[in-house]
This record gives sequence, C-alpha cells and structure tokens, in this order.
Amino acid sequence: MSDIQAIQTRLMGDIAAAADLDAIEALRVSALGKAGTITALLKTLGGMTPDERQTKGPEIHALRETVTAALGARKAALDAAALDVKLAAEAIDMSLPADAAPRGSVHPVSQVMDELAEIFADMGFAVATGPEIEDDWRNFTALNIPETHPARAMHDTFYFPAQMNDAEGRAILLRTHTSPVQIRTMMSLEPPIRIIAPGRVYRSDSDATHTPMFHQVEGLVIDRGIHMGHLKWTLETFLKAYFERDDIVLRLRPSYFPFTEPSAEVDVGYKQEKGRRIVGGNGDEEGHAWMELLGSGMVNRRVIANCGLDPDEWQGFAFGVGVDRLAMLKYGMDDLRAFFDGDLRWLSHYGFGALSVPTLSGGVSA
Ligand code: PHE
Repeated sequence: MSDIQAIQTRLMGDIAAAADLDAIEALRVSALGKAGTITALLKTLGGMTPDERQTKGPEIHALRETVTAALGARKAALDAAALDVKLAAEAIDMSLPADAAPRGSVHPVSQVMDELAEIFADMGFAVATGPEIEDDWRNFTALNIPETHPARAMHDTFYFPAQMNDAEGRAILLRTHTSPVQIRTMMSLEPPIRIIAPGRVYRSDSDATHTPMFHQVEGLVIDRGIHMGHLKWTLETFLKAYFERDDIVLRLRPSYFPFTEPSAEVDVGYKQEKGRRIVGGNGDEEGHAWMELLGSGMVNRRVIANCGLDPDEWQGFAFGVGVDRLAMLKYGMDDLRAFFDGDLRWLSHYGFGALSVPTLSGGVSA
C-alpha cells in the first residue's frame, strides 16, 4: 500500500468514527488545515520531477477530494442526528386535547333582528336604515308632530346643544323611534315601498322594563289601494312566523299616533305558564289575557304629503315594535337591563351560535 493509500484508509476510518461535530472539525484541520497531512502532501508536488508529478499529482488530488467529501457527508449526518435529538426533546404531544378558545355568541337582539329580516324578506320587504343622530324635522315635524304637540313630551328626547343645530336651524337629537326612517325612505325611494327598519332608539327613561337605549323595528308599506286589512294580515303573518305558532290572535285597539290615521295599538293573546308569558291563544278566553305589543296604523296623509308624495295616489301602513321586548317574550328573559350589561355569563346563556342565525332558505329556527 502506498503512503497515500495508507493516509486515506486511516483518515476514512477516523471520519467514520467521529462522534460529534467537534471531532469532525479537528479531523478537517489535521488533514486539510495549514499544517495538515494532505496540505503537506500537496506541498511536496512542487519539489517533484515532472514524471513523478504526473503520477503522484492525480493521486494526491483524488485523496483530497475523497477526504473532503467524506468530511462533508459525516458532518451532514451528525447535523441531522443533532436535529433529531432536538426535535425529540421539543416534540408536541398531538394526543393532548387543545384548550378551547373562548367563543363569542350572537346577542339575542342581533338574533331577533336577523329573524325579522328573514321573515319580512319572505314577504318582499327590504331592510332600510337611518342615522341614530337625527334632526327634529325628520324625528317629529315631518311625522306630523308639530312643535307644540304634547306627543313630543311623551318621548323624553335627548337633544344636542343648540349650537349644533344644522344649516336649516333644525335641532339635532338622538332619534326617539325608528319612524324617521319612514321619512327618509319616502323621500328617497319611488313607491311602491316595502321596508323594515331595525335599529337603536333613545329616550330618557330607565327601570326594569325601560333602558335609555333600546331597539325598534319599523315597518312601512306605501302602494296604491293599501288598507287596514293588509296591515292586519302582515302583522299576523309576521307574528306567527316569529313565535313559530299558528294560534296567534291579534286585537287591534283604536289608538293615537300623530303619524298614522287611523291608528291601532296591537295586542296579542297570551297565557301565564310557570311564571312566563307564553304568546298564543285568544286573550278573551279562559286563562288568557291581552298584552300590548306594538303601535301601527295607516300612514297619515299629511306625512305622505310632507315627503312629496300625493296622498290621493299613495296610501300605506306603518308599524313600530320593540325588538328587545320581542326577544324577551320568545326567549324568556325577564330583565331588560341585562341586555346591555355585557355580562359574559348572561351572553353565553342567552346568546346564539353563529350557525343558529336564520337564513331565508333555512327558516327562523333552522
Ligand atoms: N313610533 C311609534 C313609537 O315609537 C311606533 C309606531 C310606528 C306607531 C309606526 C305607529 C306607526 O311608539
């Protein structure tokens, strides 16, 4: 065996036996470093005769290449083994159940508004919206509630300071009902109109059944030849779908709203069961009673005219209903204030999952 072969055999044995990256580095320095064995062999080439160099040269270069490759391969193998050790130490236990991420829920008010939008969409109603900061012309005057009218006092309105009056000198306020959306809609859409307008409204009022902010849904239909029969059918169809029962009985009681004429307060029959009001049945029957549910009527001719429409051509009906109240009746909550406390226990008890949001095809309790 030549010297060169002997060196190669020894180095290859040492490389294969190297236990860690430090050992590999030491071997590299001893073979290929400045004072290394192979470096020394390469230096001898300079002193050889051309014939000698011709045979030794390729042998020495081949040795250098073989050893360099073996060092690289062994280093890669040791790196991979070190990574395996690290991965084993840091391994994730896939069998451990994950912590449940806190999940939000849909507030009953949002849920009910979605239900109403679906029910009315089935009857051809679109959803309209208006601002919560309104002017007193749209909130009162255009709705036939003149400056001195006692109905204004009924509403306990939150007004903004007078210096915030708009360019036309109209006072700015938090809307006291969703009825100004009637005005906005009649002034911006051509009849026939069928809309509902859900949203927040504000009155300076606070006890177990009144909060300064609450929710209403307004309904408005404007078309030719509309009469009270359409109003009654629409409300009956809506309430049957909403309460998911066929035995809903309505009682229309003559009432007064400046923006409707005639006006009707709508009552529903119910009975008391285990401390809860269960809607359904005729309020005049044994064990039943009537409960006031919403305000409604035929849109006052003056309101139609205030919006620039001809009341001889266009008629309609309107209604307004408290959404919070509807939610309490259907889902059995009894304190309105809890709706707005933001208590997570209440929300997770009464809230809805994302998948229980109703769809037009799936129906309200899909
Ligand atoms: N805006 C009335 C209220 O807030 C409800 C209502 C709306 C009555 C539409 C009649 C017609 O009390």
